[in-house]
Amino acid sequence: MNIKIKTVNPAKFDGHIVVLVSGKHTDLEPLGIDKQEVKAMLKRRSNKHIHVNTLTRLDKNLYLIFDNGKSTVSDYHKAGAEVQQSVVAKPNRKVGVIAAGAHEEMCHAFVEGLVLNDYAFDKYRSKKARHIELLAIDKKSIKLPALEASMSLWQRMEQCRNWVNEPVINLNAPVFANELKAAAKAAGVRCTVLGQKQIESLKMGGILAVNRGSVDEARLVVLEYKPARCKNKKPVVLVGKGIMYDTGGLNIKPDEYMREMKSDMAGAATMASALFAAADRKLSLHIIAILPLTDNRPGFNAYAADDIITMHNGSTVEVVNTDAEGRLILADALSYARQYKPALVIDAATLTGAAARAIGPFGIAMMQKKADAAAKKLRQCGEEVYERLVEFPMWDEYNDLIKSDVADIKNCGTAQAGCITAAKFLEHFTNYPYIHLDIAGVAFFDKRVPMYGIGASGYGLRLLVEFLEKY
Ligand code: BES
Ligand code: ZN
Ligand code: ZN
Repeated sequence: MNIKIKTVNPAKFDGHIVVLVSGKHTDLEPLGIDKQEVKAMLKRRSNKHIHVNTLTRLDKNLYLIFDNGKSTVSDYHKAGAEVQQSVVAKPNRKVGVIAAGAHEEMCHAFVEGLVLNDYAFDKYRSKKARHIELLAIDKKSIKLPALEASMSLWQRMEQCRNWVNEPVINLNAPVFANELKAAAKAAGVRCTVLGQKQIESLKMGGILAVNRGSVDEARLVVLEYKPARCKNKKPVVLVGKGIMYDTGGLNIKPDEYMREMKSDMAGAATMASALFAAADRKLSLHIIAILPLTDNRPGFNAYAADDIITMHNGSTVEVVNTDAEGRLILADALSYARQYKPALVIDAATLTGAAARAIGPFGIAMMQKKADAAAKKLRQCGEEVYERLVEFPMWDEYNDLIKSDVADIKNCGTAQAGCITAAKFLEHFTNYPYIHLDIAGVAFFDKRVPMYGIGASGYGLRLLVEFLEKY
């Protein structure tokens, strides 16, 4: 999308006009907008937090966005998405945005909603999606000092969503590792790709077990962003689940549960994108991302329930269910992270259906150990960017649910507290302040969600970048 900051004069602009009207600021005559029009629109105004009023004109609509004073960032995101949907259906796909009293933060949210809603995964479609041609932001009424940084984040969002939407037939572990390497090079980030042999010599029993049923090799990608001057002595480490496809393995998923499992690497895509975004912004922060990559398939030599495997940290794990594979590859990555003596490790993973069932598609399930302050900050950032977190407990009692008779620990508990026992399993492999983000409910949407669209959402990326920025 072409985004321009310029003077937008409603009388002269060759496209649709959006006016973000806040509070009692309804005298729009100076903008050349007729009093009668405003009056008519005000009459149609509803009690909603935000109301998008459309006045249809000959291919140059007027959208008046009324704020009731209680509008949130999310309301503005939704308004932006609504205008995007409306405009792309028209022959003229240029849109100019003007503020009449709306706060800078809300103008930013509106533009963000509009831009992110314009994303479509259409590379395999003969008939491409329609996009906004030009987004003109009025330079007089809207001052967005961080627009440049936002624009590069929106591009990272697009890259992240493209990776997650890409089917495994074209994006297996070796191919994704190559893509990350190329992206790292472009971003000026160090990238080390550990191949099958190295994963074997590191004795990463979790990654190797999950990979046994696959015809493709596994990879462990390590990205490192370390600017000359950084404010943290000990790095922040990001770990992301990179299951390129989750069939469930020998405990194979039934049909409707297998659909969308190309998105089981959303954690890895999100963490890589967060690190790249930090590099784009030249944050003075030392950040490392560790991304274990493989698919989970029931191939010839696939690992089986009852297998006992030895992990990177030396503990043994009884496999109860091969579909609880994410925690096995993450455990090795978390154990590998210990060598960096991290100040904080955050992981993101589409880990459990239980997390999705618990809070639905409206937020992230968070669990943490020894990271109270960081978790609090993360939760604040979540409120600001409207990617909210719900914290679940990590009580010792849950350890009983993953005790094994034949090994040190087993890879899943009962049907109860599924997302917590998964986190308790992971905790076993950490010795540092640790935050676990279960993004299973939000990484991929089967119905269109305003701004996040349909398919890969990129949910969590804005949250993480905000957190790193404020760290
Ligand atoms: N990748 C799935 C979790 C998932 C489910 C992500 C739905 C996104 C949407 C994970 O590997 C899995 O299969 N988890 C099992 C664990 C169970 C076997 C203990 C689950 O949640 O059912
Ligand atoms: Zn699984
Ligand atoms: Zn999985």
